This record gives sequence, structure tokens and C-alpha cells, in this order.
Amino acid sequence: MSLPNPSPNPNTPTAETVLSVNHYTDQLFAFSITRPPSFRFRSGEFIMIGLQGEKKPLLRAYSIASPSWDEKLDFYSIKVPDGPLTSRLQNIENGDEIMLGRKPVGTLVLDALLPGKRLFMLATGTGIAPFASLIRDPDVYESFEQVILVHTCREVAELTYGFDLVAAAKDDPLVGELATEKLQHIASATREDYALQGRITTLIETGALFENIAGGLFDPATDRIMICGSIAMTKDLKTLAEAHGFKEGANSNPADFVIEKSFVG
Ligand code: A2P
Repeated sequence: MSLPNPSPNPNTPTAETVLSVNHYTDQLFAFSITRPPSFRFRSGEFIMIGLQGEKKPLLRAYSIASPSWDEKLDFYSIKVPDGPLTSRLQNIENGDEIMLGRKPVGTLVLDALLPGKRLFMLATGTGIAPFASLIRDPDVYESFEQVILVHTCREVAELTYGFDLVAAAKDDPLVGELATEKLQHIASATREDYALQGRITTLIETGALFENIAGGLFDPATDRIMICGSIAMTKDLKTLAEAHGFKEGANSNPADFVIEKSFVG
């Protein structure tokens, strides 16, 4: 008598292969891995990824930085010298093995927002990763008239990934035309001289953020906001959004803004 094949344990990660690695600064790098044919996700979601440890895999939550239609999976990471995962992950090379979880989840998805006209994506540091996915998703441009990506980092060199990304989106055969028409990229630095200086929270409070955006200041009747960054940043922006009359949304209850803390260790 033969037993039926057991179906794969939904909690067991799959082993994927590193396809490319791009180091942006001493502290930031991006990489791509193979995507299993059965792996489905919504643009903006995150997934557990990691490396095989001595006894069990060492996994952390990472936003997927590629759109849901892409054949490969992109990620964007900081390098923490004594971080259990990133101290090793930063040394990966093409052909290495990466463990990939099976259950993508997250709230930075179109499903968690009510319809609107302008979509603001507010990111600090590696919090830009889910937006790397969303700005290459045609559904985003079908749902909104304007898409405004705001990225703030401590140093100017940390903004490079965002510029590369926006250039790639505008040059993309699938979304290039829509991105060129609808996507606006605003970058600021906080600890170096730069054309636009200051935290996102400050730029909102002073109104400087809206100076070059058609439609002006935040309006919950027409605007939707996605927020991704450190714990402190997401907390402060949630308070600001609520003070402007925006209500927090979830997959089960779409509303005006959504939040995700970016991976930090
Ligand atoms: P700042 O340089 O003024 O601290 P971090 O690496 O600490 O996450 O910071 C990334 C970016 O996010 C920096 O530009 C930082 O500004 C900014 N930032 C840090 N905390 C907040 C906050 N509570 N609200 C808005 N921006 C923040």
C-alpha cells in the first residue's frame, strides 16, 4: 500500500537562488532571487526570507521590492554589522541559496485603501522597498490619477536606489508610459546638504512637501497615503495623518491610509 504524497508544509520555506546583488552604499544593498512558479503575492506585501542557520533557517520579514507580475523577486536591505541575519546576508553572491517563506502578507496594498485621486507613498530608508513594487504595478496607475513617492534618508547617497527605481519604472515596457505621466518622486535628506532638506513629517507640517504637487495640501476626500519606515517614523506619520482627518485602513476594512514598519535588523 502506498501513502499519498504529503502536501508541502505551508510553514517550510523553499530554497531559492540568488540571481544578482547590487551594493549601493556600505550600508545598503539590493538583490534578486528566483521566484517559485507557485509563489503568488500582491504588490506591496512582505515575506519571510533568510539563510540556513546551524539548526534552523534564520528568517526575517522583508518587503518584496518587485511587482507581482515579475518573474524574479527583488529585495532591498540594510547591512547591520552585528545583525544576526544581515551580517551574513550582505555577503551573498550570485548562485547562493536563500530561504523564502510561503505566506506573503501586508497592508501596503491597494485592497486596504478606498478609491482616491492622489496616492502618497511616504518612505524613509529601506522603507522604500514596498513602493519599488507598487510603482511598477499597472493597477496603481489605473486606480489613481497621481502617484507621489516621497523618500527621505539621512545621507544623499542613500537616495540613489529611489532614483534608479523611478528611472527604471519610467523606462519599463509595461508601466513606463503611465509612470511618466503620473509618478512624481520627491527626495529629501536630513543630515547632508541637499536641494530638499528635512524629515517627511517636517515637510508636511511646513507645507514644503506640497509646493510642487498638483492639488496642494492633504485632503482625505481625494488622497490616500501609504507609510513605510522605522517605528518612530510610522508612529509620527500615523498621528499626522489622523490629525488631517485620514482613517487607517486594513485588508478587511479599507480606508484612507495604511502603515507598515520596515525591516530593521
Ligand atoms: P533624521 O536624520 O532627522 O533622524 P533612520 O535611519 O533613523 O530610520 O532614519 C532614516 C530617515 O528617517 C532619516 O532621514 C531620519 O531623519 C528620518 N526619521 C527618523 N525618525 C523619524 C520620525 N520620527 N519621523 C520622520 N522621519 C524620521
